[in-house]
Amino acid sequence: METQYLQVQDLERDGPLLDRAAALLREGQLVAFPTETVYGLGGNALLPGAAKAIYAAKGRPSDNPLIVHIASLQELPPLVREVPEALHRLAARFWPGPMTVVLPKSDWIPYETSGGLDTVAIRMPSHPVARELIRRSGVPVAAPSANLSGSPSPTCAAHCVHDLDGRIAAIVDGGPCQVGVESTVLTLCGEPRVLRPGAVTLEMLRQVLPDIRYDPGVFHHLSDQAKVASPGMKYKHYAPKTRVVLVRGDREQFRRFLLGRQGALGVLCFEGDLPGGRWPVLTYGREHDPASQARQLFDALRRVDGLGVPVVYARVCGEEGIGQAVYNRLLRAAGFEEIAL
Ligand code: TXA
Ligand code: MG
Repeated sequence: METQYLQVQDLERDGPLLDRAAALLREGQLVAFPTETVYGLGGNALLPGAAKAIYAAKGRPSDNPLIVHIASLQELPPLVREVPEALHRLAARFWPGPMTVVLPKSDWIPYETSGGLDTVAIRMPSHPVARELIRRSGVPVAAPSANLSGSPSPTCAAHCVHDLDGRIAAIVDGGPCQVGVESTVLTLCGEPRVLRPGAVTLEMLRQVLPDIRYDPGVFHHLSDQAKVASPGMKYKHYAPKTRVVLVRGDREQFRRFLLGRQGALGVLCFEGDLPGGRWPVLTYGREHDPASQARQLFDALRRVDGLGVPVVYARVCGEEGIGQAVYNRLLRAAGFEEIAL
């Protein structure tokens, strides 16, 4: 199929393009669109056929559930069996924004959308293009990240074109994503737990829910048979074909470590870590600026295989705030392989 490419810079001037994309969504077609975190691959969350098409376009296992995106709180009640009191407090603080909440699903949400679960993940994005697209479509929009399954989430329209051109009806280009890593996912079914760290950090959530904790799967490898709280945890994620090894240490220790290695290698590190020249180097932001790391990480991971080396050593160091989300993604890219210096 021919994928329409729709560049939306100005909501008013480009309104007709958004209307076109919204109509495609309503009819059950797939549209990639920008959010503040990463680009999403949208489909009408109420149509089983649209959910199936999303899994097919991404090559994603159909038991890995989709996040349902809404534009206003009024759209929530019909999608869930109950709206817990905690949801109101979380929403008041963090919606619209990079937070996704798992709740018991209503019959409106087909099992194709929820990956066979009785729960559904709901998010209200803050990106103006996302909000306007959802609003104009008039339906809740199921959207996983708009990448092929197994490759890093897309943080600009070019990544979506690379992965999905010819496989979906349209790509809405709204520029690069501000946050760069996917939303924080938490569950309110049972004890509150963070299933995936993101820009809304555990510390921020604790101001509303003092008892919330990380699920053990967030920073530890789960065996394939383990019963996981979030199906996404068990899949190989963001993993380049090249072996990636995390190396924990300061800049000096990291340089000495690299000099002690034999054979070809590549490096993923912070700006200014290495003088350059000796090895192929990719950077992901500045050392003490985790927001810059989050913005650049996925683009860097997409370039790892292009270095043409058998192994890439990635420097990690002291995770604060959104740095926890960056580390969670790096652990998965590295298959949990880490060396402490
Ligand atoms: O920032 C984001 O969340 C982006 C943008 C597009 O909104 N979306 C995104 O979707 O990252 P996706 O499908 O790539 O990741 C959704 C994660 C998966 O790990 C999935 O297993 C988990 O959320 N999830 C979805 N529904 C769930 C549920 N009912 N219970 C537990 N985990 C769920
Ligand atoms: Mg994803």
